[in-house]
Amino acid sequence: MEHNRLLRELTEFLSIPSISTLQAHDRDCRRSADWVAADLRRLGFSDVQLLGSETHPVVWGVGPEVPGAPTVLLYGHYDVQPPDPLSEWTSPPFEPTVRDGRIYARGAADDKGQVFCLLRAIEALGGGRPPVNFRMLIEGEEEYGSKVLFDLLRREPERTQVDLALVADMSYVAPGWPAVYNTLRGMCYAEITVRTAKSDLHSGEYGGAVPNAHEELVRLLGRLKTDDGRIHIPGLYAAVRRPSRAELATWKRLPFKESEFLRKRVQAKALAGLRKYSVLERLWTLPTFEIHGIMGGFTGNGAKTVIPAEATAKVSLRLVPNQKMKTVARQLAVAVKRFAPKYITASVRVLHGADPAQIKLDHPAFAVLDRAFKEVVGRGTVPARAGGSIPIVPALGQRGAAVVLTGIGLPDDRLHAPDEKLDLEQLWDGIEVFKRFFELLGNADS
Ligand code: BES
Ligand code: MN
Ligand code: MN
Repeated sequence: MEHNRLLRELTEFLSIPSISTLQAHDRDCRRSADWVAADLRRLGFSDVQLLGSETHPVVWGVGPEVPGAPTVLLYGHYDVQPPDPLSEWTSPPFEPTVRDGRIYARGAADDKGQVFCLLRAIEALGGGRPPVNFRMLIEGEEEYGSKVLFDLLRREPERTQVDLALVADMSYVAPGWPAVYNTLRGMCYAEITVRTAKSDLHSGEYGGAVPNAHEELVRLLGRLKTDDGRIHIPGLYAAVRRPSRAELATWKRLPFKESEFLRKRVQAKALAGLRKYSVLERLWTLPTFEIHGIMGGFTGNGAKTVIPAEATAKVSLRLVPNQKMKTVARQLAVAVKRFAPKYITASVRVLHGADPAQIKLDHPAFAVLDRAFKEVVGRGTVPARAGGSIPIVPALGQRGAAVVLTGIGLPDDRLHAPDEKLDLEQLWDGIEVFKRFFELLGNADS
């Protein structure tokens, strides 16, 4: 296909700053949804609708009906994460720029570039009768917990009445090594707020004799996770299961080296976490507790001498199979109450969450995907787990559909970070892979 035209179209899509978590970008999210809807209409989809919200609608579309062929739901998201810190981008995040065969932009890999890949794979099938019955479900709140889509599927679960749901929002495990994922971590995102006094106080008049909200918050956070990497939320690890020896053995054969992970991808001086587990076990099989930001007190230019009365930390926990979001939210609230001293008030407000996902790779569609990758890129899919989360995934399988988690990104795409990119070869291959996948699905007996 004509790469220049495709690049122009992708650039248009990536230029829309569809940041779902910032209200100032509600209109951009809507424009992004409109872009997807218009593209689906152009591809011959009928019943193209924007559902569930004016500002972050779910884009729904139905492909031409093909009696007897399997029904395939394609899932993705058009929303992106905030691009800050802006000064660390080589080119602006919403001015897509190609350098060295890669397109740099927020959303290039996560997930607009991959949504685009699916759309162009459908286009590449040509004008005739498609091999499968397509259903398209592209949401605009994945990066903020998928509330609109959860509500929609609770009201209308029949939208997931399909043979197969394909989620292209992940990456290869290494260049040349496509992957299919059998778990996703879940998530519990919360704010912890500490209040120590009625109002801020002069640090000379009062300093030395009164509590400080930031100091109390930091101490509290320090009790929740110690420097050996252990999280001290009572009961948190009770549901955690170790992977089987067989699964651990398959990970040993993956092209993953801890030293290279540190040197090339993390680019820090050392790794952190529970030392008795391998890095892949820490990333894929254990819960996490991370602090994303701390707010309150004085952070402006210059100096102000004040003792803050309130401080808030944005934190999240990643959950692993067998853990439940609701349970973990409760455990966090109890732990915060228990570790906070009597003379402060500490509260927890959960912003969003998701249960972890676990998927058996025994449906015939996985063999079909393996074959499509083999034919196009010369290597089939390796099974792996994912450290990240996609909240809606468990619900996509609620009516018995096989859920296939895969993608065309690479591990160094820098999702959510400055200089996010997508390698164009990955995109061109991806279009061929998914096109082939759909053709093979249509030819299968089932
Ligand atoms: N595409 C990612 C999820 C992902 C990343 C899966 C890497 C596997 C490997 C997705 O867009 C994402 O970032 N999800 C959020 C969800 C959260 C906000 C509920 C995440 O994981 O932080
Ligand atoms: Mn994503
Ligand atoms: Mn993301």
